[in-house]
Amino acid sequence: MFINYAHRGASQYRPENTLISFRYGLELGANGIELDLQETKDGKLVIFHDDTIDCKSNGKGRIADYTYAELKQMDFGGWKGAEFAGTSICLFEDFAKEFLGLDLTFAIELKVPNIEKQTLELIEKYKKHDRIYISSFDYDILAAVRKLCKNVKISWLIQEPIKRENIEKLLAIGGTQICPAAKNATKESVALAKSHGLGVRLWGVTDEAVMRKAYDLDTEGMTVNFPDKLTEWLKLYPRKGIKK
Ligand code: G3P
Ligand code: CA
Repeated sequence: MFINYAHRGASQYRPENTLISFRYGLELGANGIELDLQETKDGKLVIFHDDTIDCKSNGKGRIADYTYAELKQMDFGGWKGAEFAGTSICLFEDFAKEFLGLDLTFAIELKVPNIEKQTLELIEKYKKHDRIYISSFDYDILAAVRKLCKNVKISWLIQEPIKRENIEKLLAIGGTQICPAAKNATKESVALAKSHGLGVRLWGVTDEAVMRKAYDLDTEGMTVNFPDKLTEWLKLYPRKGIKK
């Protein structure tokens, strides 16, 4: 099945990585959710992308320098539009309670090291199935995940194109999915990954034109900020490949 991952939720329309963004992603037809994890000063896992809160809240500074209680007092929605003012930052545990039991595929990205154990424990506590990928750009984080858990699915986000070297490196830690940027992906490199038993998920799908081109590459999914557009496209072209 092709997975339409709501990237940070329906982040084109809602403040990213918040509960309202994830819920809206599902309303728009996503069958997957992508999110970013970081740790607060007091060791809580929160869903947030940037190192600092300056652009996506009414606060300032590094997220890791605030406790969850302090972050909870801040507004993580008003930057996106006055109608979203008062939106809170989301604890990963609250997300897990609401979503991990649903019939969806998850891409849970670890943005910082040393949160692997807590992430796996919360997933174990709330999951109802195994369509959960732990992903990161940081290979060492993924290697640490694998040391802690033999069977969780691992997907590696890469900046460079798929090559034999990164395929082998991922296979060495029992990874299942490799994730290049859409602009770096080709039919040949996707086929190479698949010939080694890896799935391919694309990121960096910046607009609908990129999305349509990427859909033709025979991958198992992509993250999009606009899941409604991908939902429409999948209805028009439910099989792989763009109609010529
Ligand atoms: O889908 C993966 C993608 O989220 C990676 O990039 O910067 O949005 O976390 P970024
Ligand atoms: Ca991400």
